[in-house]
Formats: sequence, C-alpha cells, structure tokens
Amino acid sequence: MTRILITGSLGQIGTELTQQLRSKYGKENVIASDIRKNDGDDGPYHILNVLDKEGFSSLIKEQEIDWLIHNASVLSATGEKNPHLAMDVNIRGFENAIELARLNNLRILTPSSIAAFGPSTPQENTPDFTTMRPTTIYGVSKVYLELLGEYYNHKWGVDFRSLRYPGIISSEAPPGGGTTDYAIAIFHDALKQMRYTSFLNADATLPMMYMPDCLKGTIQLLEAEEEKLTQRTYNIAGISFNPAELASSIKKHLPDFEISYEPDYRQEIAGTWPKSLDDSNARRDWNWLPDFDLDKLVTDMLENLSNTLEITYK
Ligand code: SER
Repeated sequence: MTRILITGSLGQIGTELTQQLRSKYGKENVIASDIRKNDGDDGPYHILNVLDKEGFSSLIKEQEIDWLIHNASVLSATGEKNPHLAMDVNIRGFENAIELARLNNLRILTPSSIAAFGPSTPQENTPDFTTMRPTTIYGVSKVYLELLGEYYNHKWGVDFRSLRYPGIISSEAPPGGGTTDYAIAIFHDALKQMRYTSFLNADATLPMMYMPDCLKGTIQLLEAEEEKLTQRTYNIAGISFNPAELASSIKKHLPDFEISYEPDYRQEIAGTWPKSLDDSNARRDWNWLPDFDLDKLVTDMLENLSNTLEITYK
C-alpha cells in the first residue's frame, strides 16, 4: 500500500485532503503533519516544522513514505505582512522537501498558485507558459518552487508535480491569510449578519474553485501515470467571478444580503493576478474537469456552512 505524508495538514486544503486520502488509502497509510498540536484525533499525526530537516527526514524514513504532499506554506496576505517568515517556510521548507524527495525516492506534489503570475502576465485565459514576474513574496516563492521542482525532475528524475490553484473556497477549515479569502468570509458574514464588507473591489475578478473540485484535481494529478505528464506544473481552473457576482448569487438564497466595498492592500495583490486560466493541458493530460459552477458552489456552501454554524436560512 502507498504510504503518504502530508505537511501543512491542518491548513484549509490539508484538512480535507487528509480525510479524503485516508478514506481511499486507509487511515494508517496517510500520515498527517503540521507545526502545531492537533486537537482532532482521527489518524496518525506528527508535529513537524518543515525547516527541521533532520526531523523531516526521520519522519519520512520511520513512516516508510512513498508520496509526499508538501502543503506547508504562508499565503499571500500573511506573506506581505511577514516576508521573512514566507521566505523561511515557502522557500527553505520546499528546499528541504524536494531534497528529501530526491534522497528517499519519493513522488512529491507541492501546490503552486495563480499568485505565481504577475502584472505583466496576460490576465485573460492565462496559459501554462507565459510571463511570470510576480510582485508578492508568496508568488516569488511559488515560481521558485515550480522551477526548482522541474530542475530536480530533469537533473535527478525526481517525480515532482505541481498545480496552480485558483482561490479555494471551503466550509470546513478556516482559511489562513489569503487574498482570495474574501470569497469565504462573505459566506460567514452573510449567514451571521446579512452583510459583508469586501476588502476587494466589486469588479475584482479572480479564478476560483470549490473544495470538492480542488480535492478531485489534486488526487487526479497525484495518481496520474507519470508517462501521461507532458509537463510538471499545470494550471487548473474552476470558475471566475468577482465580489459583485458572488454577492448576486448569494442574494438568490438570501434576498436581504448586502455587500459594501472597502478595498485594502489585498486589492493591490489581486490586481496583479489573472482573471481566468487556460487549463487545457491538465484536461488533455490527466482528464481534469471541474464539477462546480458559481450557483452550484453557492448553494452547497450555504448548506454546509449553515449546518456547521447551526444557522437556519431557508
Ligand atoms: N488563495 C491564495 C492566496 O490568496 C492564492 O493561492 O494567497
């Protein structure tokens, strides 16, 4: 049986990815890890600081790991508040992960992001291969990890894979410091107080994706036969929308919902990212196809979140 280690397992994506992989590969074969204590108790978990290379190495060896999903990362908005922390976790942490993948012959999947693009990138239908001059430290770290992973692949044959995620929307774990997180906060505030103040402009269109699609795409690329991969880093797209369009879709369920706009420094970050992605290579190479459009996402998100928050809205 394949043995999988996930770093950043308590993060927004890690939380749900761990559960999904455990139901597929068996609880005991999916080792979760993160920097803090885990209060949940549903499978093997280890505290791991990805900057502690010795500890990282021992965990891989002791647990006889085959695949490493390296999710530990500081997101865009937090990164701009603390660039040196982002450099440590995102750059040095990844260097440890990819080197340990080489030494232990692991398949390694590490997410990249729409943040890897920048203001000089074409913003509509952005392809996989284009100008990449990001202006955030988060984006810089993602371009670096894509290139270093690809270098390890052609130099030493390391089976490195990466996805450029759009903004991910989910109801289970709270998001942590991203620019796209307005699209999660809006649901919490809509259910709790029927109004939301957006830190992005009404027309700030960004590529977005619902968590079930994110999990589906991640597992598809993780499991894809290596011969099928014609490149190591792929765009994946779900839907593109802006705060005004998201608010209109929410209003179909909550007619009294109101949105207002007070853009802050995160608007500047969002303005440098693509509005939509061309993911035709992922569709061609490993059959990527998203399931959720905007209205379907909103219906499902309101349903799930209202259950979690114990709020009745219908
Ligand atoms: N969701 C991320 C962020 O906003 C983008 O990858 O930082």
